Amino acid sequence: MENTKSDKKETNQNLAKFVRVAEKSDLTDGSGKVVNVDGRSIALFRVKDEYFALANVCLHRGGPLGEGSLNGSTITCPWHGWRFDVRTGSFTVIPTLKVPTYKVKEQNGSVMVEIP
Ligand code: FES
Repeated sequence: MENTKSDKKETNQNLAKFVRVAEKSDLTDGSGKVVNVDGRSIALFRVKDEYFALANVCLHRGGPLGEGSLNGSTITCPWHGWRFDVRTGSFTVIPTLKVPTYKVKEQNGSVMVEIP
């Protein structure tokens, strides 16, 4: 029997998993940190009481976004100053250019990131 498109989608969702990457208390409002999960470098940010995760790779030349400075929901790359919205991954100058994002959830005081 052949897999239908919806079967494949369900299979892919089953492979995704949420991985604990930090405690909520590890990040203060307006801060970020770099976490490594399954060989991926992920930039994790806290904006007020929400957490966001992006690939830790700037679209310009690969700078470490998790080491940039966060102002509101805008992260500025530490290398040459490109800015991105951490909620969407969008480059502020050309919003259709996006850094990959990861789903984040909080559970029992921990911050979990979905790894596809
Ligand atoms: S590498 Fe990020 S602005 Fe250049």
